Amino acid sequence: MAHHPLILPHGFPPTDLVPVRTADGSYTLDSPGLKEHYHSLHGALSESRHVYIAHGLLACGKQQVDVLEVGLGTGLNALLTWIESEIRGLQVEYHALEPYPLPVGLRSALDHPARIDHPGCREAYETIMDAMPDSTVQPGDGFRFRVDRKEVQRLSAKEAFDVVYFDAFAPSVQPAMWTVDVFRCVYQAMRPGALLVTYCAQGEARRAMQAAGLLVERLPGPPGKRHMVRAQRPA
Ligand SMILES: C[S@@+](CC[C@H](N)C(=O)[O-])C[C@H]1O[C@@H](n2cnc3c(N)ncnc32)[C@H](O)[C@@H]1O
Repeated sequence: MAHHPLILPHGFPPTDLVPVRTADGSYTLDSPGLKEHYHSLHGALSESRHVYIAHGLLACGKQQVDVLEVGLGTGLNALLTWIESEIRGLQVEYHALEPYPLPVGLRSALDHPARIDHPGCREAYETIMDAMPDSTVQPGDGFRFRVDRKEVQRLSAKEAFDVVYFDAFAPSVQPAMWTVDVFRCVYQAMRPGALLVTYCAQGEARRAMQAAGLLVERLPGPPGKRHMVRAQRPA
C-alpha cells in the first residue's frame, strides 16, 4: 500500500481528556475539544462486551485466536479479552495498535479493574498497559499481548488475524480511519473467513468496508445503539 501522510483533524490527538462515568457505572474518556468519547456513554463496559467480546472474539468460534485491535485506548477490550481467555481456556495472541498512548494518570482515574470483578484483573491490566512497544508480555497462561505504536495505515501484516476489533474514533472525528484504503489494509491482515467488528454502523463506513472486499452485516447494537457492524473476509 502507498505510504501516505495522515492528515489529523484540528485538536488531534486529544490533550484535553477527562474521565466520565457511563450509564453502566464504568468510566470512559471525554475530549470536549473533539466532542468525542472513547466509548459509548450508554455503558463503556456493556459496549465492549457486546461488540468486541460477544460478536467478535466468541463469534469466531476458535480456541486459538489471533486478535488485532485498532486503537488500544484505555485497554478495556484487551482486559475483557484476557478475562475470556482465563474463563474459557482460550489461547489468545493479542496485537494492539496505538500511536497515542494514554498517560498513566488517566488510566488510574478510569480504574477499569475496579468495575470488573475478576481475580488477578488489576495485575493483568497493569501488565497490558505497561507493555513496552513491540515486546510481548504474558499476563496469563493463555494470553500473549503486544502493542505497536504504529498507525493502522502502516499495517503490513498478511493473513495473520482471526478477529479485528476496529475501535477507532467516529468517522466524523477521524475520517482517515474509515477509508477504503484502511479497510483494504485490514482485509490483507485478516485470514480468509476472519471477522471484523466495530460499534460504528454508519453507512459510509460500511460502504468503505464493502469496497475493500468485506462482507458486511448489521447486528443489534449495545445498549442505547440500534446497530453495530460485523464484517467478514470471504473464506
Ligand atoms: C475509541 S478509542 C479506542 C478505545 C479502546 N479500544 C478501549 O478499549 O479503550 C480510539 C483509539 O484509536 C487510536 N488511534 C488514533 N489514530 C489511530 C491510528 N491511525 N491507528 C490506530 N489507532 C489510532 C486513538 O489514540 C484512540 O486510543
